[in-house]
Amino acid sequence: MIGRPVDRVDGRIKVTGAAPYAADTKIPGVTCGYLVTSTIGRGRLTGMDTAAALASPGVLAVYTPFNPLKLFAYVQEQNDERFPPLQDTEIRFFGQAIGFVVAETWEQARDAAGLVTATYDQQPPVTEFPGRTLQAFEEVEEVVGTQTVGDITFTASYTTPFQHHCAMEPHATVATWNGDHLTVYTVSQGALLVQRRLSETLGVDAAKIHVLSPHVGGGFGGKWGNWAQVPLACAASRALGRPVKAVLTREQVFAMAGHRPRTKQTLAMTCTEDGKLTSIVNDGVTSRGLGGNWSESVANWTLTTYASPNLRVTKTVVPLNLGAATVMRAPGEANGSFALESAMDELAAQLGVDPVELRLRNYATLVPNTGKPWSGKHLDECYRLGAEEFGWSKRPKQVRATADGDWLVGTGMATATYGASRGQASIKVRLHPDGTASVSGTAADLGTGQYTVFAILAADELGIPVTRVRPDLGDSTSPAAANAGGSNSTCTNGPAVQVAAKAVQTELITLATTNPRSPFYGKEVSYRDGSVSSGGLTMSFGTLLTTCDVGGVEAVGTSPRLVDPEHGFRSFGAHFCEVRVHRLTGEPRVTRWLSVCDAGTIVNAKAARSQIQGAVVMGIGQALLEATEVDVSARFTNANLASYLVPVHADIPRIDVRFLDHSDPVISGLGAKGIGELGIVGVAGAIANAVHHATGVRVRDLPITLDKLL
Ligand code: MOS
Repeated sequence: MIGRPVDRVDGRIKVTGAAPYAADTKIPGVTCGYLVTSTIGRGRLTGMDTAAALASPGVLAVYTPFNPLKLFAYVQEQNDERFPPLQDTEIRFFGQAIGFVVAETWEQARDAAGLVTATYDQQPPVTEFPGRTLQAFEEVEEVVGTQTVGDITFTASYTTPFQHHCAMEPHATVATWNGDHLTVYTVSQGALLVQRRLSETLGVDAAKIHVLSPHVGGGFGGKWGNWAQVPLACAASRALGRPVKAVLTREQVFAMAGHRPRTKQTLAMTCTEDGKLTSIVNDGVTSRGLGGNWSESVANWTLTTYASPNLRVTKTVVPLNLGAATVMRAPGEANGSFALESAMDELAAQLGVDPVELRLRNYATLVPNTGKPWSGKHLDECYRLGAEEFGWSKRPKQVRATADGDWLVGTGMATATYGASRGQASIKVRLHPDGTASVSGTAADLGTGQYTVFAILAADELGIPVTRVRPDLGDSTSPAAANAGGSNSTCTNGPAVQVAAKAVQTELITLATTNPRSPFYGKEVSYRDGSVSSGGLTMSFGTLLTTCDVGGVEAVGTSPRLVDPEHGFRSFGAHFCEVRVHRLTGEPRVTRWLSVCDAGTIVNAKAARSQIQGAVVMGIGQALLEATEVDVSARFTNANLASYLVPVHADIPRIDVRFLDHSDPVISGLGAKGIGELGIVGVAGAIANAVHHATGVRVRDLPITLDKLL
């Protein structure tokens, strides 16, 4: 069953609106919380007037730093808010939570929030990048080799803007207490991430916190962390003795729920006359929001992509008065690859070498910065198959060589790679008397297809149809499985599903041979395709459980973390695209796309293709449309889905995706690596390269908008 195209098991309930998302949660007596946010970007709160809000209809409470809900400091780093909300008067960014109004209805809470006023001791916020800064510090330097040598030198700088995840579902949390037990319905990329954060900040034993996050309307990294509505809803519910629902507005999501940082990379490369790299230096600069701790290692992609005896990357972090910068699909690598993949194209042109050929000449058969072998790498096959299928050999060498009416036509390509790893996961499989099997773990499905991966792998191992497996995700009381991040879910959870589905067969056989009601009592039996057999007698597990009058059998299987210091683990791919740029208006359109991926075993051909297509769509947004602007008050100005441009259907061509489907023999028995982030890496570079090929204009600053092409 592994590798076939399978429809999403949760598809029907999603498209019919039956899937329960956090904000859909209906609890009798639920109250609504609405956040009050700062209207300056830097300074200190000197006072707040909440009298009018408190007197407003239906208002139950107004919490502020002067009348706070007690929250303890966060202990562990989680790429999210550094400070729990309302615990101090310092303003670090525009749109920071400074109040929480709870009322009987959402409208009452919103209207009362509008009556809260605040006074500030204001300072000028720092938002310039990379210019004037609060403090900039060089944080990391990794050096491989000792000298830079070579005949040909290339150097250039590449910049990328602030971007936002723009998941369709805004951040929502519903909290309700029963005595000292808390139940939380929330958006999340992992129920355990929420449980841990809440345990820290509420001072409540994690075992008393039940987190439910069965369906998530997109995450892209923005729901890995916990943002202000999570602890505030829970703490207010505890204080008021009523359930509390809090949903961020879209503008609040932009301000406080994480963003992709701004970056600048300055690449310097040397190579021999035949195009063999002798050194690559990448000095990366990245912004960090003062609302958080996290910063992006933007230059590090350079360490693992091409063979070069000398490598050096640096990281300079520029703190700004903004909410937390956080992980966003392929953090570091989506931005990092834009620079190196553009630079490789520029170097190829300088040398007069074909861009695919230049990549093959610098093919990293070993991990460039460690010298270790790869667990599995077939990137050369991606290049060759991609070039052949795309018709790369027909590409004119000259730029601006092809026109179709008023459209200049160009093609470009780039490399994609993204890290792979296998963590520890435990999964429970239970066989039921009705002939179905349930599979549970704390994993999350953000629209990624994880439900269906669980169903396929359990069905495959149990030998029953996918439709008879019921995956159960997003519940913190399930066995601890992988959170949805780092393209890690299938790689980590998949082997655990297999182990658990095998273990439950052992439980079933024990029941069959030891239960006095079983027709197999005391016999030698075997399990196959959902049935137990002995001699001429075969009985499905559902019938056997019914015959034995037991409610089910279950087993928990654990797949351990992979510790393998001998290998480098990554997924690989190659993108090929055609871009048309209007001769008169400069409008760029992506018109053809092919991605060839080498990501180990593919579990669901249909969902895997969707993952890569979705990532390419997001990469087209990164390349051509997406940028969040900041004004002098440090406010993200286009903080809505009308002004922050993301691709729509009309912006997207047919996206052809091929998988090589070489199992990775080292990462697990399943052989699956990650695909969630791989597809966006290299997309912006491929498009920039095609734009250059079409027009002769090299744009080194994302997004590639028409003003830069006129
Ligand atoms: Mo993702 S950016 O791995 O949460």
